[in-house]
Amino acid sequence: MHRCALFLTKRVWQLRPFEPFQSPNFSLYSISSFSLLILSTPSSHFLSPFLHSLSPSSSMAPGIEALQRSSNGGSVRPDSHLSDDGVSSKFKVTVVGSGNWGSVAAKLIASNAARLSCFHDEVRMWVYEETLPTGEKLTDVINRNNENVKYLPGIKLGKNVIADPDLENAVKDANMLVFVTPHQFVEGICKRLVGKIRGDVEAISLIKGMEVKKEGPCMISSLISQELGINCCVLMGANIANEIAVEKFSEATVGYRENMREIAEKWVQLFTTPYFVVTPVQDVEGVEMCGTLKNVVALAAGFVDGLEMGNNTKAAIMRIGLREMRMISKLLFSSVKDSTFFESCGVADLITTCLGGRNRKVAAAFAMNGGKRSFDELEAEMLQGQKLQGVSTAKEMYEVLNHRGWLELFPLFASVHEICTGHLSPSAIVEYSERKPNFSVIDGHAQ
Ligand SMILES: NC(=O)c1ccc[n+]([C@@H]2O[C@H](COP(=O)([O-])OP(=O)(O)OC[C@H]3O[C@@H](n4cnc5c(N)ncnc54)[C@H](O)[C@@H]3O)[C@@H](O)[C@H]2O)c1
Repeated sequence: MHRCALFLTKRVWQLRPFEPFQSPNFSLYSISSFSLLILSTPSSHFLSPFLHSLSPSSSMAPGIEALQRSSNGGSVRPDSHLSDDGVSSKFKVTVVGSGNWGSVAAKLIASNAARLSCFHDEVRMWVYEETLPTGEKLTDVINRNNENVKYLPGIKLGKNVIADPDLENAVKDANMLVFVTPHQFVEGICKRLVGKIRGDVEAISLIKGMEVKKEGPCMISSLISQELGINCCVLMGANIANEIAVEKFSEATVGYRENMREIAEKWVQLFTTPYFVVTPVQDVEGVEMCGTLKNVVALAAGFVDGLEMGNNTKAAIMRIGLREMRMISKLLFSSVKDSTFFESCGVADLITTCLGGRNRKVAAAFAMNGGKRSFDELEAEMLQGQKLQGVSTAKEMYEVLNHRGWLELFPLFASVHEICTGHLSPSAIVEYSERKPNFSVIDGHAQ
């Protein structure tokens, strides 16, 4: 049963244009300078993070305050950071990574940490130290200007973000760790963290990619869990970092494991802002597979763009790619849910990555050059230190599919890797007539 509440309040939310806004957890209708707020939720759990994400109390109408009280069991949100013995037990967050998305994640988190009493104000951000062309250390410049001048220039992170080049020092007091580095560095980082983190740590991975081990594919959240012996949720979605940095509205999905709903809601609370709406789903592997595999499809979309094949072809490639993503995910992880592919982490992320995004951009340049300039060369020239994920993910997936004898079943994924390595020309991305798989074989399997 959904609970409903109706409020006529001063404008608490701005959507342009003012259109009905809906998520599975609530609906919001905004009218001129007043808002008609209709909340419809299966449980009061959903209300708390949403209400906390509204404007500060100065603009909070009495109706909202009352609803917030009811969503917290009748009293205004208690000082949850004070345990019975009065010792502070606020959640303390460290962001492990400081690239383009890492810096935006730090900005989102910092705005909520400064506002919500259950989090420590200070947010540490571990920086892989670099010397800038000026001779200064990147960390010093971030702490002086409150801006990551290399990976997110022009955006203030929040004064409560402290850049720290010392990994152990950055994590030592934290009990919420946000992993957001390129995936190839995660294993090394985790090995350095063994025995250096608090016993009550919860983690979340914003990292798109996987490690391929002898035993098979290992998702990054599993790698973090195994290396550090901690629970790890994931956050994925249609999230091109530079757009969120300038506060353009977007959505994301938090994937969590069975019985981990409470911590998933804490992550939702930490990330949600009026322009960044986060939905939890109980499907870690599904969410993470979506975020990881779509980078391979984005390379295919880039080849299509580079060869100027047009929008119909690109839409076809995206559809075929989404179908292969779903099949691969369900064959590798039987728990993956179809519904996950309709969340922000699924079809929405696929669309945004195939329209914008660095994988598409570099793949288009690769195709325009007839495959004669390598991805490494183009990455260095076009991305200024940022990393491509799609090429390594295509290789890793190729190894997995080859090992299992599934290559024939996934012609788009197989072709992308063979194009990246120069074994096929970029135009082979649409040569499906001879590689058409017998989907009935796996359709039965992957229902
Ligand atoms: N940028 C986006 O729009 C976006 C959006 C969603 C998810 N992601 C994912 O977030 C993850 C991180 O991407 P990003 O955009 O923050 O990074 P980035 O590609 O912008 O930057 C690369 C980062 O790696 C660091 N680095 C370089 N060498 C290193 C080493 N040896 N060890 C550790 N770190 C090293 C650099 O200092 C820099 O912080 C990736 O998995 C990416 O797929 C990115």
